[in-house]
Amino acid sequence: MSISQADEVLAELEAPFYRAVGDEVEVFQAAARRGSPVLLKGPTGCGKTRFVETMAHGLGRELITAAGHEDMTSADLVGRFLLKGGETVWADGPLTRAVREGAIFYLDEVVEARQDTTVVIHPLADHRRELPIDRLGTTLRAAPGFQLVISYNPGYQSVLKSLKESTRQRFVAIELDFPPVDIETEVVTYEAGIPPETASALVKVGRAIRTLDGSPLREVASTRLLILAGGLVAEGLSLRSAVQSAVVQALSDDPDVVRALGELVDAVLPRA
Ligand SMILES: Nc1ncnc2c1ncn2[C@@H]1O[C@H](COP(=O)(O)OP(=O)(O)OP(=O)(O)O)[C@@H](O)[C@H]1O
Ligand SMILES: [Mg+2]
Repeated sequence: MSISQADEVLAELEAPFYRAVGDEVEVFQAAARRGSPVLLKGPTGCGKTRFVETMAHGLGRELITAAGHEDMTSADLVGRFLLKGGETVWADGPLTRAVREGAIFYLDEVVEARQDTTVVIHPLADHRRELPIDRLGTTLRAAPGFQLVISYNPGYQSVLKSLKESTRQRFVAIELDFPPVDIETEVVTYEAGIPPETASALVKVGRAIRTLDGSPLREVASTRLLILAGGLVAEGLSLRSAVQSAVVQALSDDPDVVRALGELVDAVLPRA
């Protein structure tokens, strides 16, 4: 085997596991070729981060991630002056590093961040592809390969309202959701390392909870929760107690809701 073949094998081995559901891979790749920014929409635990990791790997680009939170300001993304041994030195933030290096920058839960972060994102998200750094009095042009990816969860109503129209309209939007039964079963089988029949039972539970009429739950049973439960089964727990601990208790603290979910799970799972 030549060195380049060995490299290929290695790259293949390290590729994250991602099963495409629709045309999301093609859309992302086309956007990447254009340097267009991408907005990923989808509920928590549906595979957004895994998808971006897979895309970055396939494009051979570094992936730099930041998670939006309510105290996040533009300085957290762009950088700031730090005091070091009595001197002030500039430290690039993760966005600036991605702009310089031509990496993919993934900003998770973008709308959690303060409004001033959109000010630095906008000029990067249109034809300008530039990052003004006021504190340094410079403007950086994004290196080739730089791509901006942001995500948000449309399930949170307030969040939907706070994603500005002028931001939305700069991005190619890709909607991700929980995969269809066959793919989700495959994902849970692989990730949890359990037999397909066990994964299939977990996916049935997930579906039943997701399609509950008038559900009082803020979030539904995500693929992530099903994988978590599957992992407990792989460690020897019974299907029932795995689902109880990893899914039911994770979804609600309300005793009535927990009881109702427990009954639903009992009805869906095969008799032990
Ligand atoms: N289509 C898929 N292919 C492979 N794995 C998947 C797929 N969909 C979901 N998963 C799995 O679901 C789990 C959760 O995915 P991930 O962390 O990417 O969710 P997320 O959408 O980023 O969630 P959050 O919004 O909470 O950050 C991962 O273990 C991932 O492997
Ligand atoms: Mg994520």
